Amino acid sequence: MNKWLWWSALMILVIAAGAYAGGAQFLGTMPCTEKIPPVTKGERIFKLCDGETKVLIRVAGAVPGERMPRQQAQQVASLLWEQYQTMKEIKTNQEPGSNLYAHGGTPHTKREMMIWEKELKRNIDEGHKVFHDPNLGTNGVSCDMCHPDAANTHPETYPKFQVQLKKVALLRDMVNWCIENPLEGKKLAEDDPRMRAMEAYILFNRKNKPVEPGKH
Ligand code: HEC
Repeated sequence: MNKWLWWSALMILVIAAGAYAGGAQFLGTMPCTEKIPPVTKGERIFKLCDGETKVLIRVAGAVPGERMPRQQAQQVASLLWEQYQTMKEIKTNQEPGSNLYAHGGTPHTKREMMIWEKELKRNIDEGHKVFHDPNLGTNGVSCDMCHPDAANTHPETYPKFQVQLKKVALLRDMVNWCIENPLEGKKLAEDDPRMRAMEAYILFNRKNKPVEPGKH
């Protein structure tokens, strides 16, 4: 075999190995507070979603700042998820009983649960206030006058097509429709704290209703 052929065979091997190594590889973890070691070419550092731990994943050929192809991104996501599960297990073992308060798969402490419940209650209470506020609109009418205890608000049916709006509406769109119409007020921005509080209040008043988006 001549020299040229040998070279092409070698090149093909190198390319194939490169493609094989193009996958994501788990390198290890470190606390978020620690400095990330210098990134070498073809290495990307991902931060695990718990905000405490950085996960080092090497992705061959990945250029920082550039979007990865779907297959590579899926590999990275799977490695992160695996790591997340491992850390969850460690945490649960360190704090036996904490999984009694697990929700969304993450163990919570009693203290955390107390703080969160208080915060949530504050939000709902604020919503109750806004829902009963004669100054939300301009004519003294308030939401509770037609929807006592959030009756007939049906948040569990959203999103759905609403004839008044001639489009698929979210709960907040109907809240605004009622502010503009029966209350003759100015509609709220989607991220207005009053809108967020009212959504919380309405949803909590319809607790345990089966979610039926699109239902009329
Ligand atoms: C004068 C009575 C009246 C007042 C006051 C009123 N609404 Fe309504 N509300 C209605 C009517 C009528 C509808 C339309 C029902 C429909 O389309 O089936 C409605 C619909 C809704 C819906 C959608 C219900 C569904 O079945 O999909 C929500 C949510 C809602 N209102 C929230 C509010 C909020 C929040 C306020 C206060 C800002 C308010 N409403 C004030 C009469 C009122």
